[in-house]
Amino acid sequence: MPKPIRLSAFLLYLFLFPVISLAGPHQAAIASAHPLATAAGFEILEQGGNAFDAAIAVSATLAVVEPSGSGLGGGGFWLLKRAKDGKEIIVDGREKAPLAAHEDMYLDAQGNPITQLSLDGARAAGIPGLPAALAHLAKKYGRLPLLKSLGPAIRHSESGFEVGDSYLTAVKAREKALQAYPASAEIFLDQNATPKPGFRLVQKDLAATLRRLGGSGHAGFYRGETAAKLVDAVLKADGIWTREDLEKYKIVERRPMLGEYRGIRIVSTPPPSSGGVVLLEALNILAAYDLESVDTITRKHLIIEALRRAYRDRDLYMGDPDFIKNPVNRLTSQDYAAGLRVAIRTDRTLPSENLSDAASPALQGDNTSHFSIIDRQGNQVAATLSINQSFGSAFVAEGTGVLLNDEMDDFAVSPGKPNSYGLVGGNANKIEPGKRMLSSMTPTFLQTKDRIAILGTPGGSRIISMVLLAVLDFAEGHGPQSWVSIGRFHHQYLPDVVEYEPGAFGAEAIRGLEKLGHKLKATAKPYGDMQAILWDKANGSLEAASDPRGEGLAIPILAKKPVL
Ligand code: GLY
Repeated sequence: MPKPIRLSAFLLYLFLFPVISLAGPHQAAIASAHPLATAAGFEILEQGGNAFDAAIAVSATLAVVEPSGSGLGGGGFWLLKRAKDGKEIIVDGREKAPLAAHEDMYLDAQGNPITQLSLDGARAAGIPGLPAALAHLAKKYGRLPLLKSLGPAIRHSESGFEVGDSYLTAVKAREKALQAYPASAEIFLDQNATPKPGFRLVQKDLAATLRRLGGSGHAGFYRGETAAKLVDAVLKADGIWTREDLEKYKIVERRPMLGEYRGIRIVSTPPPSSGGVVLLEALNILAAYDLESVDTITRKHLIIEALRRAYRDRDLYMGDPDFIKNPVNRLTSQDYAAGLRVAIRTDRTLPSENLSDAASPALQGDNTSHFSIIDRQGNQVAATLSINQSFGSAFVAEGTGVLLNDEMDDFAVSPGKPNSYGLVGGNANKIEPGKRMLSSMTPTFLQTKDRIAILGTPGGSRIISMVLLAVLDFAEGHGPQSWVSIGRFHHQYLPDVVEYEPGAFGAEAIRGLEKLGHKLKATAKPYGDMQAILWDKANGSLEAASDPRGEGLAIPILAKKPVL
């Protein structure tokens, strides 16, 4: 029966590959982690910018108003879809290890990690990618000059803004680290202590740095005055950056990971983020189960078992694709998932130690930031940005206002050495000069015939499990308010424990999962800050939702610039 086979292959092709969106939603939507960032995006749309210009405005404004999560001193992944030709691309603005970096740089004489060294201070910082990504977005995809799209961020950094509770809580948690660096304390603290409510955060040096970036594009950050000040400050603080590191930094455009789950086309991050691969691998494992029909304990158990296996492969195999060959085709193939399913039982768990060896995953900061945008033409952006831990390395390079990341800690800092579980591995993600550290950032598009979703969240290694739960919720027909609100749980292979948000599991679920052999641990507080958009082409509706756990703002209609 060659004909039907050819027809179904053609339909599959149409489904799996980008389809040009001839008509947009005729409205715009933005969901971001801060009201001023959402407003900045709308301001730029009103000035004639498209979703990509708005993405520049939102990214830069987040750097100013949510300095704990992302910034010019960090990096990120911008997943784009251009409406006019259906092009889908990831702008990889992930930080890179400095050229003087080496495998032992965070180890003591006995080869044990000195944790503080990869977390705080100038030595913890990779070469930033966010400024390069913004310059690239403006040059290749935007309609407006970069300086114009940076306008709201420059204004907020120059005039200042009143910080909210999230800022005060984040500063309190990192107060000690910020106090260690006078240029940081001067900006983010008030008389060297956590500010009181009502504090106005003014960042004049950052405004000048943004102006230089806006005026000269890429070179306005990676060369000249900004570059000189960055390198001077880093070297004075025992860091290892050189001018060459900055001059050589380039973003990479990469093809997104594509997959399918129960008729939903999934577009997500490729390496050097593990996000898309782990997401697709877990979904492939789950695709054979009818998650809507099984009881809720079995449903949770199956999701946990899928996550256990997908995260294990992350630790075993994944790293920067410019340095190692990631077996992404194998890890995301249906046959591989079928093989992994064989050892999944519904009557009990299989402990992680019974799976073959992998390293203990590198701990990842649980901060970061995400935003989602769609414009009237249907251009889409899902972007997740990071400086790793809250306030990154806590180190501001004097005279620039730029808070540096501590993303070097996302490398496996002691590969080849047994971890506390006696397992060895992590070589794919070992430190090498000029290499990008493995990430979990998972900005994602979902697409069915009628429904387009744009979503993502911060949250370190838990990012991927949060996005997975949202995809399953989308598959069950729910909308963005539900995706951002559902109770979250997580398993990442090691440690072999199911983490769950307070309230996410009732007493019955806890009893049921423990009976299956799971070790459970409630997190100290809720986690994640998902920002999501749903465009339903069938009824023309556009919805946007901001995680109730955060202080973000989601606005689905370009009626008027929101007044804030
Ligand atoms: N630093 C968090 C991540 O890249 O996933």
